Amino acid sequence: MKREPLGQATTPSATTEEFLPFSRPSISREAIEEVVACLESGWITTGPRTQRFEADLKTYLSAPHALALSSATAGLHLALLALDLKPGDEVITTPMTFAATLNTIVLAGGRPVLVDVEPHTYNMDATRLAHAITPRTRAIMPIHFAGLPVDLDAVYAIAQQHGLRVIEDAAHAIGTEYKGKRLGSFGDVQVFSFHPNKNMTTGEGGAITLRDDAMASRLGLLRFHGMDREAWDRFGKKGNQHYEIVMPGFKYNMMDIQAALGLHQLKALDGFIVRRTELAQRYQKLLQDWPQWTLPRAPAFAHRHAWHLFVPLINPDAAGMDRDAFMAGMKVRNIGTGLHYRAAHLYPYYRDNFGFKHGDFPVAETISDRIVSLPLFPGMTDADQDRVIDAMRDLFKKS
Ligand SMILES: Cc1ncc(COP(=O)(O)O)c(C=O)c1O
Repeated sequence: MKREPLGQATTPSATTEEFLPFSRPSISREAIEEVVACLESGWITTGPRTQRFEADLKTYLSAPHALALSSATAGLHLALLALDLKPGDEVITTPMTFAATLNTIVLAGGRPVLVDVEPHTYNMDATRLAHAITPRTRAIMPIHFAGLPVDLDAVYAIAQQHGLRVIEDAAHAIGTEYKGKRLGSFGDVQVFSFHPNKNMTTGEGGAITLRDDAMASRLGLLRFHGMDREAWDRFGKKGNQHYEIVMPGFKYNMMDIQAALGLHQLKALDGFIVRRTELAQRYQKLLQDWPQWTLPRAPAFAHRHAWHLFVPLINPDAAGMDRDAFMAGMKVRNIGTGLHYRAAHLYPYYRDNFGFKHGDFPVAETISDRIVSLPLFPGMTDADQDRVIDAMRDLFKKS
């Protein structure tokens, strides 16, 4: 069935001649007009549209506080800085994540401690968490991989038992629900990404949601130079030009140009997730009997998967090729794929500075060698998806 991209996407759906990317944002005419209106308004950095976007995020997520930021990396960094880590303090996460998760732990002065993941969800294996806790542990950072929630009850139970904060890396997971509750509406801290390949985008951008009032005030200062009043409050009609610096801060604010896009992306998000879910379920159905693939599996607890990524594992023996050869073969056939992610503990920096080595996290390492992200985006048609399957059939010489 041929489908129009949701929200009247500006980019046409791929034909057989075109390269089919693994991801492509759907940007509505209204969003483009809002960005133009922002550009014409005379106020393009943090201001009224960012304030509206934060209010809309709070409503959508039922979150007590939401701060719009320049990226999710900025959000992770701020959340970790709020822990006031001392040398040797540890933060627990997993190797199946983007480098930003581990990098920000180090940049905030902490030591990353890793636990292995579950083989079919790629999420933190909560049964291994208790063994990783030491007197130096300060926080747990689970990743809701591909938009599938981690078993948060298990993670928060351990955190409460040991007095630890939980910082959820929800970069993949805006719109994800755990046991009927949307991420952001409960728990300590969540960090979302609005990078262009995520479920909604602001170009680059991110947001942090949290419950703690004092922490929210502190992060609000840290996000913008430690200034007690942002520019919009100073240069507006009722503003006062003076400000005080109450702590040294960063430049992690979101611009109104970004928020203009975000206001409309957020409205479209649930529709995007519906289409992503249809495509993911269709992949599951079309590929279920292929020996070349091990497909991702859902956990037993109730959840809504946001389907940021569809990430099967290639079975190299049955496929007659490894993951990298598969990706190269698909590219030749005009199909883009993605690699999310290679296990982070094996990057040179982490091996050299924290002593991680091959064999430390065997489940993550197997996934790291075999994982591949197939094309998945809301404007993708069933015909586009059929092209992906046909290209695979050709590549695997499958009849
Ligand atoms: C798991 C995870 N955490 C953090 C990030 C960082 O997000 P951003 O690019 O918005 O800084 C990403 C981005 O891909 C991610 O996948």
